[in-house]
Amino acid sequence: MEERFDLDAVFNDDYELLHADYLTSEQSDFDVEEILQLLPKSTHTILDAPCGWGRIANRLSLLNFEVVGLDRSPGWIARAQAFAKAMSSPATFVVGDLLTYRPQRHFDAVMCWFNSFGYGDDEWNAAVLDAFAHATRPGGVVLINTLDVVPIREYLNGRVHGEISTTAGGLMVERSSFDLDEQRLVTVRAHAGASDESGVVASVRLYEREAWVHLLEGAGFSDVTFHARTAPTNADADFELTVLATKR
Ligand SMILES: C[S@@+](CC[C@H](N)C(=O)[O-])C[C@H]1O[C@@H](n2cnc3c(N)ncnc32)[C@H](O)[C@@H]1O
Repeated sequence: MEERFDLDAVFNDDYELLHADYLTSEQSDFDVEEILQLLPKSTHTILDAPCGWGRIANRLSLLNFEVVGLDRSPGWIARAQAFAKAMSSPATFVVGDLLTYRPQRHFDAVMCWFNSFGYGDDEWNAAVLDAFAHATRPGGVVLINTLDVVPIREYLNGRVHGEISTTAGGLMVERSSFDLDEQRLVTVRAHAGASDESGVVASVRLYEREAWVHLLEGAGFSDVTFHARTAPTNADADFELTVLATKR
């Protein structure tokens, strides 16, 4: 897993600085708008997994959903709790792993937003869906916001896309490519001038629609549907895809 994704090194203060233009407060409002369009009207309880610093969990909670946010990072859970306090949100937060978290209750919806699925190999990813199924009540839904492999693969098509940003430690270069053998979007982040070997690797497995259906049905979901972005976004809407499925 570490070769594919150095989680501690990726999700740190640089992560926020690198995404500062995208992850604005307005973007979080847009994301909530998109989520509200997709959630069934009967939804009241939501598990936001992983929740990061609670930008979505706290907003949904203020809209009268009962929300629990889960994340492996104690630092980000502490920030989510502080954010909740500052905005008087009743959302609750727990430090835990997507794979092993076994709540004592079932939720109407389990939500995995902003390209937070597919960090492991196929076995690991399928086990995360099993965990999501375990946390969802029969008739409830799982909502996974991911990237659409088809336009991403076409766009990168054997080339490396580079972006330069300013972080606290100086200029940072992010190079993204698509690994056709592993079907993973790979991003290597390194200080400008440093070799890629010294960089931090993040990669996500992207699935074709057929594979999503297979994986979700294998985990105990049915009625799998795919949704293009409709709410506004600071990013490229064409690359975004949200997968919705109902727990049997
Ligand atoms: C891209 S961020 C998205 C957070 C949130 N969904 C959002 O939209 O802001 C991914 C998050 O996944 C968390 N994470 C990564 N692997 C995890 C795991 N195995 N269990 C729980 N959280 C994990 C990271 O700590 C990080 O907060």
